[in-house]
Amino acid sequence: MKSILNERNLSDKKILLRLDLNVPIKNGEISDTTRIDKILPTLRFLIQQKTKIIILSHVGRPKGKVVKELSLKPICEDLKKKLNVSAKLITKNIYEIKNKDFFEKFDEEILILENIRFYIEEEKNDYKFAKHLASLGDIYVNDAFSCSHRAHASIYQISQYLPSYSGLQLDLELAALNKITAGITRPITCIIGGSKISSKIDIIKNLIPKFDNIIIVGGMANNFIEYFGNNIGKSIKERNCHEIVNEIVSLSEKNECKITYPDDVLVSKNLNGSPVNKELNQILPDDMILDIGSKTINKIINIIDNSKTILWNGPAGYFENPNFANGSIKIAKKIVENNKSSKIFSVVGGGDTVSLLNRLKIVNNFNFVSTAGGAFLEYLEGKELPGITALN
Ligand code: 3PG
Repeated sequence: MKSILNERNLSDKKILLRLDLNVPIKNGEISDTTRIDKILPTLRFLIQQKTKIIILSHVGRPKGKVVKELSLKPICEDLKKKLNVSAKLITKNIYEIKNKDFFEKFDEEILILENIRFYIEEEKNDYKFAKHLASLGDIYVNDAFSCSHRAHASIYQISQYLPSYSGLQLDLELAALNKITAGITRPITCIIGGSKISSKIDIIKNLIPKFDNIIIVGGMANNFIEYFGNNIGKSIKERNCHEIVNEIVSLSEKNECKITYPDDVLVSKNLNGSPVNKELNQILPDDMILDIGSKTINKIINIIDNSKTILWNGPAGYFENPNFANGSIKIAKKIVENNKSSKIFSVVGGGDTVSLLNRLKIVNNFNFVSTAGGAFLEYLEGKELPGITALN
């Protein structure tokens, strides 16, 4: 894999730079800019080298449709302010843009193409689309580690048509993750949250033989709570997951990896309501599970105390409402405490989790923090990531 950092004579080259600027945006406001802040060194390096930068990124999952709320406009504005350069968002249909248009028609230092996932071809890894994208630049740089588990056109296919390099952040991320996989000590505990269990089933199955504990929290824990015969009221859950949970449970029994799911929960009648701590058999049909309860927190703290390595991906509850952030905060603080006294080695990944740690101002108190979610887990479980394979 060649790093752009080691490349010289980049002056005037048009760099197609794939970034992961998938930041949380609500009403046009970015609520957490970590992913933008992290790639500023890459952009500064490319500006210093006098290159012409064309940024490619996605936000959210628009599934091939133009969704106004998922425009990269707020990101473009943020970059302008932070880098103090002129930047322009190109909203024109990508197929109508020609290489010579760039930096001739527009005199901005950085050009940003509108959300690449507005095109259905992106997720299909479409070669014609990738070829057209490639025709817009001279060099391709992937600095989006957190998207490198996706075999998409702007991550995988494009590298077939241009000299391709890794970016500064991708290099750093890989170096840190390699260090972790080489030096991991047991007992190892993985705390895993998020709402879609089907998207993490392979990861969980692969981690079971290597880990001592897997703690399931967040939305996906509801599938476990229901599987074990409890009512989950109107809580979110993924449909048709009985088989998946069954598979996880029996695999964990075979491998002596203990699966922990909530014993008690915080419920409310709606997302803005106030919390009530309930045992699983007390949940009513109009209750929504929004966080883990106090008994569960103590149980998790105890597991953390008995672990040497902790991997954490996904908050424990609906932390956007402070009433339901307690579970995630207690987990975070316990990991930080044990980390400070060097009892554990801690690795945290995932956009939501990192945003929570930023809010608590403790993001620097972990051994390694990755802004990647799925890519981080897949890399740790030893899978080949298409975006990395493409660079090799
Ligand atoms: C992420 O947020 O992990 C990356 O941006 C990838 O997003 P995706 O899961 O929608 O592919």
